[in-house]
Amino acid sequence: MSNLATVITGASSGIGEQLAKQLASQEPQTLVLVARRAEKLNTLAEQLRQTHSIRVEVISLDLEQVGAAQQLVKAVQDLGLEIDTLINNAGFGLNDLFADMPLERIQGMMQLNMVALTELCHAVLPAMRQRKQGRIMNIASIAAFQSCPKFAAYAATKAYVLSLSEALAYEEKTNGIKVTAICPGATATAFHDVAGTNGTLLTKIMDSAEDVARSALKALNTGKPVLVTGAINKPLPFFNRLLPRQCVVWVAGKINQ
Ligand SMILES: NC(=O)c1ccc[n+]([C@@H]2O[C@H](COP(=O)([O-])OP(=O)(O)OC[C@H]3O[C@@H](n4cnc5c(N)ncnc54)[C@H](OP(=O)(O)O)[C@@H]3O)[C@@H](O)[C@H]2O)c1
Repeated sequence: MSNLATVITGASSGIGEQLAKQLASQEPQTLVLVARRAEKLNTLAEQLRQTHSIRVEVISLDLEQVGAAQQLVKAVQDLGLEIDTLINNAGFGLNDLFADMPLERIQGMMQLNMVALTELCHAVLPAMRQRKQGRIMNIASIAAFQSCPKFAAYAATKAYVLSLSEALAYEEKTNGIKVTAICPGATATAFHDVAGTNGTLLTKIMDSAEDVARSALKALNTGKPVLVTGAINKPLPFFNRLLPRQCVVWVAGKINQ
């Protein structure tokens, strides 16, 4: 039996949970589910094992902690597994005026959305290069394409994820490694409870996590470097390039009031 595995961070809810369910039904590869809430992960893992007869492992870890990415890589190695597919999905947003947010929450968000993601990409690429095979999916956001008032630091973390992923997709293409940045628009998940955006204009029209996961997996398999999910969101990056930057920021600010 192969020791290659797919690691999904943030698999305890929302888009990550859907990615786990859909991957389990599509591929026989071992799944490693990562998040803080062990109980939720264990319930999902048991469900996937029973339905699809695949190996599913659970690693409960707080990826906001410094050094957590290294801990995760070691924990996967200790299970006798090699990471063939890395899905950096864990992340959260903070919706408020930047100066009013506690600095520790901003630092935690940067650590999770950017630092842990970067460290995980860096850790898995050498072995993927040797195998001449590997897939990385990084979940960015439609917020990556412009500055977003009241989502200032969050949008900046996602701009980083998009920029890093596009460059990695180019760098690793000839090594047989596919890197994809997924940019969802508003999606109906617990993200909005955490961010505090429930009830805002932003959440009036949302995609389902199932739909986002389905298009994300298609993009990963075809090696599409960037995917914006949802029909309404797709033209936004194009219009952003045509309009003056200040105008785009004004619109983002109005949507996110
Ligand atoms: N929903 C949207 O509108 C939307 C739009 C664009 C992009 N996104 C992005 O999509 C990704 C998934 O979010 P979602 O919408 O599915 O929201 P979600 O349902 O809240 O899921 C977030 C996942 O991240 C995990 N997570 C959060 N903090 C963590 C930490 N410190 N350590 C480890 N895991 C942690 C959570 O698990 P635990 O709480 O169990 O740790 C959960 O499984 C995020 O990167 C988000 O920025 C979402």
